[in-house]
Amino acid sequence: MRIENTFGIEAEASAVIYYDSEKGLIKTIQRLRAYDDSIPLLLVGEGSNLLFLSDYKGFILKSNIKGFTIKQETADDVLVEVGSGEICDEFIEQAIQHGWYGMENLSLIPGQVGAAAVQNIGAYGVEAQDVIEEVKGIGLNDAEERIWKQKDCGYGYRQSIFKGELWGKYAITRVTFRLKKHFEPKLQYGGLVKAIEQAGLSKDTLTAEQLRQVIIDIRRAKLPDPKEQGNAGSFFKNPVVPKEQAERLLSEYPTMPHYPAEEGKIKLAAGWLIEQAGWKGKSLGPAAVHDRQALVLVNKGGATGHDIQRLCEAVKKDVKERFGIELEPEVNFI
Ligand code: EPU
Repeated sequence: MRIENTFGIEAEASAVIYYDSEKGLIKTIQRLRAYDDSIPLLLVGEGSNLLFLSDYKGFILKSNIKGFTIKQETADDVLVEVGSGEICDEFIEQAIQHGWYGMENLSLIPGQVGAAAVQNIGAYGVEAQDVIEEVKGIGLNDAEERIWKQKDCGYGYRQSIFKGELWGKYAITRVTFRLKKHFEPKLQYGGLVKAIEQAGLSKDTLTAEQLRQVIIDIRRAKLPDPKEQGNAGSFFKNPVVPKEQAERLLSEYPTMPHYPAEEGKIKLAAGWLIEQAGWKGKSLGPAAVHDRQALVLVNKGGATGHDIQRLCEAVKKDVKERFGIELEPEVNFI
């Protein structure tokens, strides 16, 4: 069966199995394990952060756990448990309608809620880890439920325990978010205040709906719609380098974008590095570097996973030669 993925890569799996409840998933895992305890299982949501290099010789599991429930509510905040199969952006829209705030800046990021917790999605100064309270999952070998509090999820920049040591070991079933009942816009990300003003709005009277719309408009202007052109959002992570290395580069390239990172480190903009290396808008066969955001690789039509990988390697090589920086993909290769 064909595996859905936003890159639009043709890849098949032995089977694609949907689960719409914990009970259903547990039954499925027990049956599969009784039949063959070594068959590989892979969780795929919308496939918005995956690059298939070949067919998958195993079963794909897909969450169809929908809906959300309030677990706790105070005057200030609300804990909402959301099914991992909800489309993240649809939940954000509904949260705003309910007056639950904190996820506006994550608007329009493709993918399901479960994947958001795995990938620690982030945009415009907010990351999923800022609003996640806990994550529930079921073991793919023992069919046992496990709950992780936020501090145990190993969150970092586009990183989590689910992408790391637990990769392939759990299916996420539900994610609990702690959302605020008073809207406090997060506008620290460079360019956001300017975009708000350009939209004829004021940051002092801004509503959550307006902020969501501004974010949606920025994303639509820069990022290709996977329905029109296959892609997986940012293909690379922004590199975090030692301060001394960033300073050396800045003396040569004073306009290079850079941001504070953890102690003694600086985050650079991979998109800028790739553009400077001459790759923006360039193609290699049916794979291309997007012409409005060089951090995004696109499938121009008919590309295989290997075509995208070839472009990835060519870009990495040139960035390494020019700046001495090793780019690391954000996308998971399968
Ligand atoms: N830039 C260039 N050329 C380019 C692209 C970017 O010079 O082709 C420069 C920009 O001018 C800017 C800087 O690089 O000075 C940063 O660019 P931008 O604000 O577009 O964000 P980004 O760092 O390229 C990250 C995330 C995006 C997220 C945006 C906004 C990563 C890997 N990517 O991109 O996330 O939407 O910030 O917060 O951290 C994703 O993960 O799929 C994704 C789209």
